Amino acid sequence: MTDIVELSALEPDFNTNPYPHYAELRAKGPVHQVRLPDGRDVWMVVGHDEARAALVDPRLKKDWSSHPDWQPVEGTGQLLANMLQSDPPRHTRLRKLVTRAFTARAMEALRPAVQRITDDLIDAMLAKAAGGRADLVESLAYPLPMTVICELLGVPDLDRERFRRWSDAFVTSDGPTGRDGSEIEMARYLDQLIEDKRHTPGPDLFSTLIRTTDEDGDRLSGDELVGMAFLLLVAGHETTVGLIANGTLALLRHPDQLAALRADFGLLDNAVEEMLRYDGPVETSTWRYTGEPVEIGGTRVPAGVPVIVALGSAARENGRFVAPDSFDITRDTRGHLAFGHGIHYCLGAPLARMEGRIAIRTLLERCPDLALDADPATLTWRPGILMRGPVRLPVRVS
Ligand code: HEM
Repeated sequence: MTDIVELSALEPDFNTNPYPHYAELRAKGPVHQVRLPDGRDVWMVVGHDEARAALVDPRLKKDWSSHPDWQPVEGTGQLLANMLQSDPPRHTRLRKLVTRAFTARAMEALRPAVQRITDDLIDAMLAKAAGGRADLVESLAYPLPMTVICELLGVPDLDRERFRRWSDAFVTSDGPTGRDGSEIEMARYLDQLIEDKRHTPGPDLFSTLIRTTDEDGDRLSGDELVGMAFLLLVAGHETTVGLIANGTLALLRHPDQLAALRADFGLLDNAVEEMLRYDGPVETSTWRYTGEPVEIGGTRVPAGVPVIVALGSAARENGRFVAPDSFDITRDTRGHLAFGHGIHYCLGAPLARMEGRIAIRTLLERCPDLALDADPATLTWRPGILMRGPVRLPVRVS
């Protein structure tokens, strides 16, 4: 039995740069019991091989509504009817109904739209940049994935400010659900959104999902449509922003790597993989719980307790990656877990990769003198351990 690690004792350091802390934890063992700043205890897997194994272990459950102590929050059941909070067979069913929309081929068809949105955002950023200064998060990293997912789903007039508030509250709450009431408002809003779509369908993913019946005659129920909308919009909002911001920051802090990429954009695809490995936007997996006692990396984890996998820690495991703390856009990045692993492997990975590659390349091409406009030590990082990224990224664009 290991001692409980109090995360609050490591703050604000842990939030700013968790990697040295993960290294210390890994040196002590691959699994630890951790107390989150809000007092809740979780078991955290920090070793690479153990992380990979945990992500495919069917004894680690995702459907919290099956947990014996689960207390449902009224009005939020629909949000939980999504694939990331389901186990087979429901997970298999839900995922199958949308898989076709997210293949690499389907994403390729979106390339012109992603490029157009990127160009427009960079035009606006350059036009507005007072004294050549801009906040890269606000001008590009946040609005790009959000605009793309809204176009893909067919909700161009989503109330973005409200949705951003709810979505942020949800992902920073560090738990299987948000807990401040915003999820009830969000469920109502999405319910109405789907209802509107039923009446005015278009050439978009939501309209297709409402219509879709697969070869076995299966289709999404009303609650499942809301759950799907919730998952895709939150995933589309909260993740790729960190790929673009953390990736740009890593490049600007490593001028040799930046110069190598500028000299040869053939390195771009691998550079984006290295950005995902080195400082990925999803720091830990979402919560699972043990359906029975489980031994992970020699540690016995009791039944019914929450388990999270520190993807950011696995990415820095010595022995799995050569000199893992260095940022090297030519390294072999295979085996990084930035998109998860197993049945819940990120459905949006092809889209996220395409957005990341287009954003980084276009930004570098349009801003030959791009530079950081802040001491990296002064950056504020998003709260919570689920998502990782700077709140603002001040840059000089000219
Ligand atoms: C760089 C950007 C992204 C990263 C790093 C990322 C990362 C992840 C990770 C780690 C998981 C698994 C979580 C777990 O097992 O607990 C996941 C699942 C998922 N992601 Fe992403 N994601 C990104 C972008 C996106 C985008 C743009 C979308 C959708 C448009 C998306 C949709 C999903 C969905 C639907 C799942 C659940 C899959 C399932 O349960 O079968 N993601 N993502």
